[in-house]
Amino acid sequence: MPLGLDCIGTPLSPGATKVMLLGSGELGKELAIELQRLGVEVIALDRYANAPAMQVAQRAHVLAMTDGPALRRIIEAERPLLVVPEIEAIATDALVALEREGWCEIIPNARATALTMNREGIRRLAAEELGLPTSPYRFAESEAELRCAIDSGIGYPCIVKPVMSSSGKGQSKLSGPDDVAAAWQVATAMGRVQSSRVIVEGFINFDYEITLLTVRSLAADGSIVTSFCEPIGHRQVNGDYVESWQPHPMSAHALAAARAMGKHVTDSLGGRGLFGVELFVKGDSVWFSEVSPRPHDTGMVTMASQAQSEFELHARAILGLPVDTALRECAASAVIYGELDAPGIGFAGVAHALEVPGSALRLFGKPESFKKRRMGVALVRAADAATARSLARLVASRVTPVRAA
Ligand SMILES: Nc1ncnc2c1ncn2[C@@H]1O[C@H](COP(=O)(O)OP(=O)(O)OP(=O)(O)O)[C@@H](O)[C@H]1O
Ligand SMILES: [Mg+2]
Repeated sequence: MPLGLDCIGTPLSPGATKVMLLGSGELGKELAIELQRLGVEVIALDRYANAPAMQVAQRAHVLAMTDGPALRRIIEAERPLLVVPEIEAIATDALVALEREGWCEIIPNARATALTMNREGIRRLAAEELGLPTSPYRFAESEAELRCAIDSGIGYPCIVKPVMSSSGKGQSKLSGPDDVAAAWQVATAMGRVQSSRVIVEGFINFDYEITLLTVRSLAADGSIVTSFCEPIGHRQVNGDYVESWQPHPMSAHALAAARAMGKHVTDSLGGRGLFGVELFVKGDSVWFSEVSPRPHDTGMVTMASQAQSEFELHARAILGLPVDTALRECAASAVIYGELDAPGIGFAGVAHALEVPGSALRLFGKPESFKKRRMGVALVRAADAATARSLARLVASRVTPVRAA
């Protein structure tokens, strides 16, 4: 029998506290390491073998996590205490059914997982139910509908995205009517699942964008307490994060508004765990963009900046343990891309990179490299975030992907 929360068992014994990760990328790998440190038995799932988190888990299974019956079979065979989605593309119907049966817990819960995997679900919740400020938006299912949506209020510039996609995939910025046809093509060809539904959003000319890591954990009396990490600034290129830093300075007014939105949206989603609340800021105005009910890629910087990284915070929160979101030092992260299309690549220049004071590296161990695949990240602590940013870029630039001999 699993021992349940607040009493962690021995891995690989009948009393083990088992946590199953749905998705085994770099974020799952760091979460698995934090869970392992607490004596949790980790089972890692993904659609390909030797994914990063699988390399640090007790067991791994390869399957399409969008295949509901297959997902249920594995969850039933493993009987984990907690099922923790690491990515968005999951058969959320299967999670809803499992949650109803009540013998395992979905983190943070099945509804939050389903709502956030589809831009329509989370946008309608945030804007229409909770009344949070967002970019103006419409949905469309054909090129003609898309044109009509833009002409009847959204205007130019605007951004078109598949309703189900991440890391900027299938996303285009449109400056005028001539861009509509190409944007429609890109969005419908690149969406994660076969769907021709897109969202078109008015372009927000923000001063900066942040991720506000928001943690819902258990207090001693069993109630839920919400804590916030310091704002994380980040820079995206074509919708994909390339560098992040913490803290990002904000006016007292904007910070209060950001925290109020983070609390509002995470209260509504519910459950325990860490959430990445993405916000756009201009002066004192803040717009809600989207939220991940799990660690966020831009939050990898917290491995250098915080006493408890976003992965430790998530591990603690889901296990019902206390958390501490305090910042320890300013830090930054810079992404290391594959730059090559090849399996089993090497990384040259690691020693030179780590000569930079205050630096650390994470090489994810992904079995196959693509030119624009995120293969690692450079982390640097420094006296201020601007110095940390330039040093993190320097460290990343010294790491060179090479073909294996
Ligand atoms: N309405 C908008 N106005 C201005 N910029 C936008 C808008 N929507 C998206 N962006 C820019 O594109 C980036 C990616 O958008 P978004 O977060 O919606 O996509 P994503 O594919 O879910 O990315 P990820 O999964 O990496 O968070 C944003 O971080 C922001 O820089
Ligand atoms: Mg995003």
